[in-house]
Amino acid sequence: MYNETITINGEEHHFRMLRFPLTDYSGKIIGTCTIGRDATNEIQLMEKLIQSEKLAALGKLAAGVAHEINNPLTGILSYAESILDELESDSPLQDDIKIIIRETLRCRDIVRNLLDFAKQYTPRLEIVDPNLIIRQALELVHRLPQFKDIEINVFLEERIPKIKADAKQIQQVILNFLINAADAMKYKGKITVSSEYYRQQKKCIISVEDTGPGIPENLMDKIFEPFFSTKSTSGLGLAVSWGIVERHHGTIEVDTAPSGGAIFKIVLPAFFESEVQQN
Ligand SMILES: Nc1ncnc2c1ncn2[C@@H]1O[C@H](COP(=O)(O)OP(=O)(O)OP(=O)(O)O)[C@@H](O)[C@H]1O
Ligand SMILES: [Mg+2]
Repeated sequence: MYNETITINGEEHHFRMLRFPLTDYSGKIIGTCTIGRDATNEIQLMEKLIQSEKLAALGKLAAGVAHEINNPLTGILSYAESILDELESDSPLQDDIKIIIRETLRCRDIVRNLLDFAKQYTPRLEIVDPNLIIRQALELVHRLPQFKDIEINVFLEERIPKIKADAKQIQQVILNFLINAADAMKYKGKITVSSEYYRQQKKCIISVEDTGPGIPENLMDKIFEPFFSTKSTSGLGLAVSWGIVERHHGTIEVDTAPSGGAIFKIVLPAFFESEVQQN
């Protein structure tokens, strides 16, 4: 048995190949027979499973570490604050203590994010319009200074079905995508946010496309791992997003846009009232 990758209509297919000898009536080998089975879906499913398990394990580890760090951090912060209170206002140590406080607060933010990530809040499901969630997320980013030189185009499929989702959590995922896009484009460029309905699969898609440098092929798998970051940030945004979408029985897909930028898609099952009544 061996594996072979064949490109069919521009798409890579992975085949599991089996080759055995063909013999004639006297047992003489006169050729070989090769059977290839397309195992692409199987392999992709396996990769997704491994990825989910890896993320779950990392999440547990992260939660443990965050919990341990939380207490000493609170100690550092309260002692630093009381030193600051005691210091004369012209003391040369004022600035140093303020730096300690600022950096400790930064650590506390990271720890909070980690704990949020690990808690894996169960979504509060409601029947919501995906377009409404997108509009609410966009309203928030319009106010952020890092978006002032970014053109945001929005294409919403008006007749998209509703989804059963925790609107706040999905909004958080969209925000994570938008902020990542802005960072990747160094705060200048174009972001396209769209919603679509894949009728055959009964899936609603929310996508965020940017005109940044895109994601190198060798990092595609890594970006969802907690702490993976090419910036000086915590590297939790996509790990948290992955967890949220998974708990909504959806998936996140990443692709490269024709511009070379990144496209992040949230794929969620559409909700139909009639199906619930039938069940
Ligand atoms: N739109 C994008 N274009 C290019 N690279 C991206 C994009 N989105 C994410 N990435 C890459 O994926 C990495 C992980 O993203 P993630 O959101 O998990 O962490 P982060 O943005 O670095 O930190 P945090 O979200 O915690 O502030 C990023 O550091 C970046 O390298
Ligand atoms: Mg991020």
